[in-house]
Amino acid sequence: MLKSHGEYKPFGRSATNISKQCCMPSVKVRIATMKDLPGIMRLEAECFDERRFEQETVTAFIVRNDTIALVAVDEQMIVGAAMCMFSKRCGEGRIASIAVLDGRREKGLASRLLIECEKKMIVLGVRRCGLEVGIENTPAISLYLKHGYVLKTMAKDYYGAKKHAYMMEKSISKGPKKRVKVS
Ligand SMILES: CC(C)(COP(=O)(O)OP(=O)(O)OC[C@H]1O[C@@H](n2cnc3c(N)ncnc32)[C@H](O)[C@@H]1OP(=O)(O)O)[C@@H](O)C(=O)NCCC(=O)NCCS
Repeated sequence: MLKSHGEYKPFGRSATNISKQCCMPSVKVRIATMKDLPGIMRLEAECFDERRFEQETVTAFIVRNDTIALVAVDEQMIVGAAMCMFSKRCGEGRIASIAVLDGRREKGLASRLLIECEKKMIVLGVRRCGLEVGIENTPAISLYLKHGYVLKTMAKDYYGAKKHAYMMEKSISKGPKKRVKVS
């Protein structure tokens, strides 16, 4: 069973990087391939603690047909990644992980990755997307709230003793339904 992680290395929002600088147009977001595995593992090591995904788990996200792995690449360097899983039958998806290299944060990259994951899941028939996030992970919680995820519940000790998680959820769809004119 693939599980999402919500652990992070704490960091603060400094006065110098609060404002958006640019959306980094040189960074391309694309589907990950097995060639990206070393880069994704480096990113995992930098962004998460001991709870980071194992190589086999990341491999599963890349190769399985009920998962999506995306990378954000700047001149062949992986600067961000997102992984999600979905069930077409249930119309449900789950964001398992989003991470951006420390020096590339607060420039809209996680937003791009999240939006792209949602778009791809919508095409596949996913209508509801959930995730778990550590209750102290303010940057990630803010990211998800900004993108319309709502808090459903708190799961105590989800990541281990006293490491609680919020379960969040969002309805995703192709956009406003077209009105059918009844004459
Ligand atoms: C969480 C994370 C992915 C955000 O990446 P990012 O590229 O910096 O995010 P974005 O620039 O797209 O920010 C989008 C929104 O997220 C929120 N956000 C991002 N960083 C934030 C911070 N340091 N403090 C508060 N809110 C923050 C804001 O709402 C922001 O919107 P705004 O710029 O309009 O205020 C990144 O901090 C990270 O990789 N953290 C470590 C890994 C992790 O914890 N991942 C999530 C759990 S799976």
